[in-house]
Amino acid sequence: MFRTLTARQPDGIVLIMQAFAADDRPDKIDLGVGVYRDTMGNTPVFAAVKAAERRLVETQTSKGYVAPAGDPRFLQAMRALVLGDGVEPARVAALATPGGSGALQKAMELVALARPEARLWLPDPTWPNHPPMVERSGLQRLVYRYFDRAAGGLDRAGMWRDLAGLRPGDVVLVHGCCHNPTGTDLTPEDWQALAHRITEAGALPLVDLAYLGLGQGLDADATGLRLLARRCPEMLVATSCSKNFGLYRDRVGLLLAVTETPRDQAEVQRSLAWLNRVSIAFPPDHGAAVVTEILADPGMTAAWRTELETMRSRIGTLRRDFAAALQTETGSNRFAAFAEQVGMFSLLPATPDQIAALRQDHAIYVIGDGRINLAGLTDATIGPAARAIASVLG
Ligand code: LMR
Repeated sequence: MFRTLTARQPDGIVLIMQAFAADDRPDKIDLGVGVYRDTMGNTPVFAAVKAAERRLVETQTSKGYVAPAGDPRFLQAMRALVLGDGVEPARVAALATPGGSGALQKAMELVALARPEARLWLPDPTWPNHPPMVERSGLQRLVYRYFDRAAGGLDRAGMWRDLAGLRPGDVVLVHGCCHNPTGTDLTPEDWQALAHRITEAGALPLVDLAYLGLGQGLDADATGLRLLARRCPEMLVATSCSKNFGLYRDRVGLLLAVTETPRDQAEVQRSLAWLNRVSIAFPPDHGAAVVTEILADPGMTAAWRTELETMRSRIGTLRRDFAAALQTETGSNRFAAFAEQVGMFSLLPATPDQIAALRQDHAIYVIGDGRINLAGLTDATIGPAARAIASVLG
Protein backbone atom coordinates (compact mmCIF):
# COMPACT_ATOMS: atom_id res chain seq x y z
CA MET A 1 0.00 0.00 0.00
CA PHE A 2 2.35 2.70 1.21
CA ARG A 3 5.09 2.17 -1.39
CA THR A 4 2.98 4.07 -3.89
CA LEU A 5 3.36 7.25 -1.85
CA THR A 6 5.56 9.93 -3.35
CA ALA A 7 7.43 12.17 -0.94
CA ARG A 8 5.42 15.20 0.08
CA GLN A 9 7.53 18.04 1.36
CA PRO A 10 6.54 20.36 4.17
CA ASP A 11 5.95 23.90 2.87
CA GLY A 12 8.52 26.68 3.28
CA ILE A 13 7.04 27.87 6.57
CA VAL A 14 7.15 24.45 8.24
CA LEU A 15 10.69 23.86 6.89
CA ILE A 16 11.89 27.11 8.46
CA MET A 17 10.19 26.24 11.78
CA GLN A 18 12.07 22.93 11.79
CA ALA A 19 15.41 24.46 10.81
CA PHE A 20 15.06 27.20 13.45
CA ALA A 21 14.29 24.64 16.18
CA ALA A 22 17.36 22.62 15.20
CA ASP A 23 19.74 25.63 15.28
CA ASP A 24 21.56 25.89 18.61
CA ARG A 25 23.10 29.33 18.13
CA PRO A 26 21.89 31.37 21.13
CA ASP A 27 21.46 34.62 19.18
CA LYS A 28 19.27 33.13 16.42
CA ILE A 29 16.38 35.31 15.25
CA ASP A 30 13.07 33.79 14.09
CA LEU A 31 11.35 35.87 11.43
CA GLY A 32 9.64 32.78 10.02
CA VAL A 33 6.24 31.47 11.11
CA GLY A 34 3.51 34.08 11.66
CA VAL A 35 3.32 34.09 15.43
CA TYR A 36 3.20 37.23 17.57
CA ARG A 37 5.99 37.73 20.10
CA ASP A 38 6.07 40.25 22.94
CA THR A 39 9.01 42.41 24.08
CA MET A 40 10.55 39.34 25.73
CA GLY A 41 10.21 37.26 22.57
CA ASN A 42 7.41 35.14 24.04
CA THR A 43 4.00 34.28 22.59
CA PRO A 44 1.87 34.92 25.69
CA VAL A 45 -1.60 33.65 26.51
CA PHE A 46 -3.97 36.66 26.56
CA ALA A 47 -5.05 37.59 30.11
CA ALA A 48 -8.65 37.61 28.81
CA VAL A 49 -8.18 34.03 27.57
CA LYS A 50 -6.80 32.93 30.93
CA ALA A 51 -9.77 34.55 32.69
CA ALA A 52 -12.25 32.88 30.33
CA GLU A 53 -10.53 29.53 30.77
CA ARG A 54 -10.71 29.87 34.58
CA ARG A 55 -14.39 30.66 34.31
CA LEU A 56 -14.97 27.68 32.04
CA VAL A 57 -13.22 25.37 34.48
CA GLU A 58 -15.55 26.63 37.20
CA THR A 59 -18.80 26.62 35.26
CA GLN A 60 -18.63 24.14 32.38
CA THR A 61 -20.73 21.15 33.33
CA SER A 62 -20.03 18.90 30.36
CA LYS A 63 -17.56 18.12 27.64
CA GLY A 64 -20.27 16.40 25.62
CA TYR A 65 -20.31 17.06 21.88
CA VAL A 66 -21.55 20.33 20.48
CA ALA A 67 -23.63 20.27 17.26
CA PRO A 68 -21.85 19.23 14.03
CA ALA A 69 -21.79 22.88 12.90
CA GLY A 70 -20.50 24.04 16.31
CA ASP A 71 -21.99 25.86 19.30
CA PRO A 72 -24.62 28.32 17.97
CA ARG A 73 -23.47 30.94 20.51
CA PHE A 74 -19.93 30.83 19.09
CA LEU A 75 -21.25 31.04 15.52
CA GLN A 76 -23.44 34.01 16.33
CA ALA A 77 -20.78 35.91 18.30
CA MET A 78 -18.20 35.44 15.54
CA ARG A 79 -20.67 36.36 12.80
CA ALA A 80 -21.30 39.66 14.53
CA LEU A 81 -17.57 40.28 15.08
CA VAL A 82 -16.73 39.66 11.43
CA LEU A 83 -19.74 40.95 9.52
CA GLY A 84 -21.07 43.60 11.93
CA ASP A 85 -24.72 44.34 11.23
CA GLY A 86 -24.40 44.85 7.47
CA VAL A 87 -25.97 41.52 6.45
CA GLU A 88 -29.25 40.02 7.56
CA PRO A 89 -28.36 37.11 9.90
CA ALA A 90 -31.01 35.00 8.13
CA ARG A 91 -28.77 35.04 5.03
CA VAL A 92 -25.64 33.82 6.83
CA ALA A 93 -24.71 30.17 7.35
CA ALA A 94 -21.85 29.41 9.74
CA LEU A 95 -19.57 26.54 10.65
CA ALA A 96 -17.06 26.08 13.48
CA THR A 97 -13.82 24.62 12.13
CA PRO A 98 -10.40 23.56 13.40
CA GLY A 99 -8.60 26.87 12.74
CA GLY A 100 -8.77 29.18 9.75
CA SER A 101 -7.21 26.47 7.59
CA GLY A 102 -10.08 24.17 8.49
CA ALA A 103 -12.45 26.94 7.39
CA LEU A 104 -10.63 27.34 4.07
CA GLN A 105 -10.77 23.61 3.52
CA LYS A 106 -14.49 23.50 4.20
CA ALA A 107 -15.02 26.52 1.93
CA MET A 108 -13.36 24.67 -0.92
CA GLU A 109 -15.29 21.49 -0.15
CA LEU A 110 -18.55 23.44 -0.20
CA VAL A 111 -17.68 24.94 -3.58
CA ALA A 112 -16.68 21.51 -4.91
CA LEU A 113 -20.01 20.12 -3.69
CA ALA A 114 -21.97 22.88 -5.41
CA ARG A 115 -19.87 23.14 -8.55
CA PRO A 116 -17.06 20.57 -8.92
CA GLU A 117 -15.74 22.22 -12.08
CA ALA A 118 -15.27 25.61 -10.38
CA ARG A 119 -12.03 27.53 -10.85
CA LEU A 120 -10.41 29.21 -7.85
CA TRP A 121 -8.18 32.26 -8.29
CA LEU A 122 -5.34 32.87 -5.84
CA PRO A 123 -3.35 36.09 -5.56
CA ASP A 124 0.34 35.96 -6.45
CA PRO A 125 2.02 35.85 -4.01
CA THR A 126 -0.08 34.19 -1.32
CA TRP A 127 0.19 32.02 1.79
CA PRO A 128 2.18 28.92 0.69
CA ASN A 129 -0.49 26.56 2.01
CA HIS A 130 -3.16 27.96 -0.33
CA PRO A 131 -2.03 26.30 -3.61
CA PRO A 132 -1.77 22.73 -2.24
CA MET A 133 -5.09 23.16 -0.44
CA VAL A 134 -6.78 24.11 -3.71
CA GLU A 135 -5.13 21.19 -5.48
CA ARG A 136 -6.30 18.78 -2.79
CA SER A 137 -9.85 20.11 -3.10
CA GLY A 138 -9.98 19.13 -6.77
CA LEU A 139 -10.85 22.65 -7.87
CA GLN A 140 -8.94 24.19 -10.71
CA ARG A 141 -6.34 26.72 -9.55
CA LEU A 142 -5.73 30.01 -11.34
CA VAL A 143 -3.58 32.93 -10.30
CA TYR A 144 -4.02 36.70 -10.43
CA ARG A 145 -1.17 39.16 -10.08
CA TYR A 146 -1.22 41.04 -6.78
CA PHE A 147 2.18 42.43 -5.84
CA ASP A 148 4.88 44.03 -7.94
CA ARG A 149 8.16 43.02 -6.29
CA ALA A 150 10.25 45.46 -8.29
CA ALA A 151 8.04 48.43 -7.41
CA GLY A 152 7.34 47.11 -3.89
CA GLY A 153 3.58 47.74 -4.08
CA LEU A 154 0.27 46.44 -5.33
CA ASP A 155 0.35 45.34 -8.99
CA ARG A 156 -2.96 47.04 -9.65
CA ALA A 157 -2.75 46.97 -13.45
CA GLY A 158 -1.79 43.28 -13.47
CA MET A 159 -4.53 42.41 -10.98
CA TRP A 160 -7.33 44.01 -12.98
CA ARG A 161 -5.99 42.58 -16.22
CA ASP A 162 -6.03 39.05 -14.76
CA LEU A 163 -9.40 39.45 -13.06
CA ALA A 164 -10.86 40.55 -16.39
CA GLY A 165 -10.72 36.80 -17.11
CA LEU A 166 -13.24 35.93 -14.37
CA ARG A 167 -16.09 33.70 -15.45
CA PRO A 168 -19.46 33.00 -13.83
CA GLY A 169 -19.00 30.48 -11.01
CA ASP A 170 -15.30 31.29 -10.47
CA VAL A 171 -14.10 31.77 -6.90
CA VAL A 172 -11.71 34.61 -6.06
CA LEU A 173 -9.67 34.25 -2.89
CA VAL A 174 -8.81 37.61 -1.38
CA HIS A 175 -6.93 38.32 1.85
CA GLY A 176 -9.29 40.30 4.10
CA CYS A 177 -6.47 42.32 5.71
CA CYS A 178 -2.75 42.11 6.50
CA HIS A 179 -1.95 40.36 3.23
CA ASN A 180 0.30 37.37 3.75
CA PRO A 181 3.17 37.66 2.70
CA THR A 182 3.31 41.27 1.44
CA GLY A 183 1.61 43.36 4.18
CA THR A 184 0.05 45.30 1.30
CA ASP A 185 -3.73 45.57 1.42
CA LEU A 186 -6.34 46.77 -1.03
CA THR A 187 -7.48 50.38 -0.70
CA PRO A 188 -11.18 51.24 -0.17
CA GLU A 189 -11.35 52.09 -3.91
CA ASP A 190 -9.85 48.70 -4.78
CA TRP A 191 -12.46 46.95 -2.63
CA GLN A 192 -15.20 48.88 -4.44
CA ALA A 193 -13.77 47.93 -7.81
CA LEU A 194 -13.35 44.31 -6.71
CA ALA A 195 -16.97 44.11 -5.56
CA HIS A 196 -18.02 45.49 -8.94
CA ARG A 197 -15.79 43.12 -10.93
CA ILE A 198 -16.84 40.03 -8.98
CA THR A 199 -20.54 40.86 -9.16
CA GLU A 200 -20.39 41.74 -12.83
CA ALA A 201 -18.62 38.44 -13.60
CA GLY A 202 -21.02 36.34 -11.48
CA ALA A 203 -18.08 35.10 -9.39
CA LEU A 204 -17.89 34.27 -5.67
CA PRO A 205 -15.50 36.00 -3.24
CA LEU A 206 -13.72 33.82 -0.69
CA VAL A 207 -12.16 36.06 1.95
CA ASP A 208 -9.29 34.64 3.98
CA LEU A 209 -9.38 36.62 7.21
CA ALA A 210 -6.58 35.30 9.41
CA TYR A 211 -5.36 38.58 10.94
CA LEU A 212 -8.48 40.53 11.87
CA GLY A 213 -7.52 43.31 14.30
CA LEU A 214 -3.80 43.29 13.61
CA GLY A 215 -3.75 45.78 10.73
CA GLN A 216 -5.70 49.01 11.21
CA GLY A 217 -8.00 47.80 14.01
CA LEU A 218 -10.90 45.39 14.45
CA ASP A 219 -13.58 47.27 12.51
CA ALA A 220 -11.22 48.94 10.03
CA ASP A 221 -9.78 45.54 9.05
CA ALA A 222 -13.27 44.25 8.28
CA THR A 223 -14.29 47.22 6.12
CA GLY A 224 -13.36 45.63 2.79
CA LEU A 225 -15.05 42.31 3.38
CA ARG A 226 -18.15 44.03 4.81
CA LEU A 227 -18.36 46.01 1.61
CA LEU A 228 -18.21 42.77 -0.41
CA ALA A 229 -20.88 41.31 1.87
CA ARG A 230 -23.19 44.23 1.11
CA ARG A 231 -22.52 44.28 -2.61
CA CYS A 232 -22.12 40.62 -3.64
CA PRO A 233 -25.12 38.29 -3.50
CA GLU A 234 -23.00 35.47 -2.10
CA MET A 235 -19.71 35.30 -0.26
CA LEU A 236 -17.52 33.02 1.84
CA VAL A 237 -15.31 34.15 4.74
CA ALA A 238 -12.77 31.87 6.42
CA THR A 239 -11.55 33.34 9.67
CA SER A 240 -9.29 32.33 12.51
CA CYS A 241 -8.85 33.13 16.21
CA SER A 242 -5.21 31.99 16.19
CA LYS A 243 -3.64 35.42 16.08
CA ASN A 244 -6.25 37.84 17.42
CA PHE A 245 -7.06 35.67 20.46
CA GLY A 246 -3.60 34.03 20.58
CA LEU A 247 -5.31 30.61 20.45
CA TYR A 248 -2.95 29.14 17.84
CA ARG A 249 -2.77 25.56 19.05
CA ASP A 250 -6.39 25.39 20.16
CA ARG A 251 -7.44 25.60 16.49
CA VAL A 252 -10.40 27.97 16.53
CA GLY A 253 -11.85 28.90 13.15
CA LEU A 254 -15.09 29.77 11.46
CA LEU A 255 -16.51 29.62 7.97
CA LEU A 256 -19.27 32.08 7.11
CA ALA A 257 -21.36 31.74 3.96
CA VAL A 258 -23.43 34.74 2.94
CA THR A 259 -26.26 33.47 0.77
CA GLU A 260 -28.59 35.24 -1.61
CA THR A 261 -31.77 34.32 0.22
CA PRO A 262 -32.76 32.87 3.62
CA ARG A 263 -33.92 29.76 1.73
CA ASP A 264 -30.43 29.26 0.33
CA GLN A 265 -29.06 29.81 3.81
CA ALA A 266 -30.95 26.80 5.14
CA GLU A 267 -29.57 24.57 2.40
CA VAL A 268 -26.01 25.86 2.81
CA GLN A 269 -26.22 25.46 6.59
CA ARG A 270 -27.25 21.81 6.14
CA SER A 271 -24.40 21.24 3.66
CA LEU A 272 -21.85 22.81 5.99
CA ALA A 273 -22.98 20.72 8.96
CA TRP A 274 -22.78 17.65 6.72
CA LEU A 275 -19.24 18.52 5.62
CA ASN A 276 -18.12 18.65 9.25
CA ARG A 277 -20.00 15.49 10.10
CA VAL A 278 -18.41 13.39 7.34
CA SER A 279 -14.88 14.64 8.02
CA ILE A 280 -14.37 15.56 11.69
CA ALA A 281 -17.85 14.55 12.98
CA PHE A 282 -17.93 17.40 15.53
CA PRO A 283 -15.71 20.48 15.72
CA PRO A 284 -13.32 21.09 18.63
CA ASP A 285 -14.89 23.40 21.20
CA HIS A 286 -12.49 24.36 23.99
CA GLY A 287 -11.00 27.36 22.17
CA ALA A 288 -14.35 28.28 20.67
CA ALA A 289 -15.91 28.23 24.16
CA VAL A 290 -13.16 30.58 25.37
CA VAL A 291 -13.91 32.99 22.53
CA THR A 292 -17.66 32.76 23.21
CA GLU A 293 -17.10 33.47 26.91
CA ILE A 294 -15.02 36.55 26.08
CA LEU A 295 -17.41 37.92 23.46
CA ALA A 296 -20.47 37.36 25.67
CA ASP A 297 -19.07 39.38 28.57
CA PRO A 298 -18.61 43.14 27.97
CA GLY A 299 -15.85 43.39 30.59
CA MET A 300 -13.88 40.52 29.11
CA THR A 301 -14.47 41.83 25.59
CA ALA A 302 -13.05 45.21 26.59
CA ALA A 303 -10.00 43.57 28.21
CA TRP A 304 -9.41 41.43 25.11
CA ARG A 305 -9.77 44.43 22.78
CA THR A 306 -7.19 46.33 24.84
CA GLU A 307 -4.71 43.45 24.66
CA LEU A 308 -5.26 43.10 20.92
CA GLU A 309 -4.77 46.82 20.44
CA THR A 310 -1.49 46.64 22.38
CA MET A 311 -0.29 43.91 20.01
CA ARG A 312 -1.40 45.85 16.97
CA SER A 313 0.30 49.04 18.03
CA ARG A 314 3.49 47.18 18.98
CA ILE A 315 3.65 45.69 15.49
CA GLY A 316 3.28 49.22 14.07
CA THR A 317 6.12 50.47 16.29
CA LEU A 318 8.34 47.53 15.32
CA ARG A 319 7.64 48.27 11.66
CA ARG A 320 8.64 51.92 12.00
CA ASP A 321 11.71 51.15 14.12
CA PHE A 322 12.88 48.42 11.77
CA ALA A 323 12.42 50.58 8.68
CA ALA A 324 14.41 53.35 10.40
CA ALA A 325 17.19 50.93 11.44
CA LEU A 326 17.41 49.59 7.87
CA GLN A 327 17.57 53.12 6.54
CA THR A 328 20.46 53.88 8.91
CA GLU A 329 22.34 50.67 8.20
CA THR A 330 21.90 50.61 4.42
CA GLY A 331 21.82 54.35 3.72
CA SER A 332 18.92 53.67 1.37
CA ASN A 333 15.18 54.07 1.69
CA ARG A 334 14.26 50.91 -0.20
CA PHE A 335 12.81 49.39 2.98
CA ALA A 336 10.65 52.43 3.76
CA ALA A 337 7.47 50.56 2.77
CA PHE A 338 7.87 48.29 5.82
CA ALA A 339 6.70 51.21 7.95
CA GLU A 340 3.53 51.65 5.87
CA GLN A 341 2.60 48.01 5.35
CA VAL A 342 0.31 46.29 7.86
CA GLY A 343 0.07 43.09 9.86
CA MET A 344 2.91 40.74 10.63
CA PHE A 345 4.51 40.32 7.24
CA SER A 346 6.56 42.09 4.61
CA LEU A 347 8.72 40.82 1.77
CA LEU A 348 12.44 41.34 1.94
CA PRO A 349 13.71 42.03 -1.59
CA ALA A 350 16.35 39.29 -1.30
CA THR A 351 17.59 36.52 -3.60
CA PRO A 352 17.52 32.87 -2.45
CA ASP A 353 21.31 33.06 -1.93
CA GLN A 354 20.93 36.12 0.27
CA ILE A 355 18.20 34.41 2.31
CA ALA A 356 20.51 31.39 2.74
CA ALA A 357 23.36 33.72 3.81
CA LEU A 358 21.14 35.41 6.40
CA ARG A 359 20.46 32.01 7.88
CA GLN A 360 23.96 30.51 7.62
CA ASP A 361 26.06 33.52 8.54
CA HIS A 362 23.70 35.44 10.84
CA ALA A 363 21.20 32.86 12.21
CA ILE A 364 18.31 34.93 10.85
CA TYR A 365 15.42 32.79 9.66
CA VAL A 366 13.33 34.16 6.81
CA ILE A 367 10.83 32.26 4.63
CA GLY A 368 12.22 31.25 1.22
CA ASP A 369 10.33 33.92 -0.74
CA GLY A 370 11.80 36.64 1.51
CA ARG A 371 8.81 36.89 3.84
CA ILE A 372 9.70 38.24 7.27
CA ASN A 373 7.47 38.21 10.33
CA LEU A 374 8.06 41.63 11.86
CA ALA A 375 6.21 40.56 14.98
CA GLY A 376 9.14 38.17 15.57
CA LEU A 377 11.48 41.12 16.20
CA THR A 378 12.20 42.59 19.63
CA ASP A 379 13.87 45.86 20.63
CA ALA A 380 17.02 43.84 21.19
CA THR A 381 17.02 42.14 17.77
CA ILE A 382 16.06 45.07 15.54
CA GLY A 383 19.64 46.40 15.42
CA PRO A 384 21.42 43.09 14.78
CA ALA A 385 18.79 42.06 12.18
CA ALA A 386 19.09 45.40 10.33
CA ARG A 387 22.91 45.19 10.36
CA ALA A 388 22.84 41.62 9.05
CA ILE A 389 20.41 42.51 6.28
CA ALA A 390 22.54 45.53 5.33
CA SER A 391 25.66 43.39 5.14
CA VAL A 392 24.01 40.65 3.06
CA LEU A 393 21.76 42.74 0.81
CA GLY A 394 24.22 45.62 0.47
C1 LMR B 1 1.96 31.83 8.70
O1 LMR B 1 1.64 32.22 7.58
O2 LMR B 1 3.14 31.80 9.09
C2 LMR B 1 0.90 31.38 9.67
O3 LMR B 1 -0.36 31.55 9.08
C3 LMR B 1 1.10 30.02 10.21
C4 LMR B 1 0.91 28.94 9.20
O4 LMR B 1 0.15 28.02 9.46
O5 LMR B 1 1.56 28.95 8.14
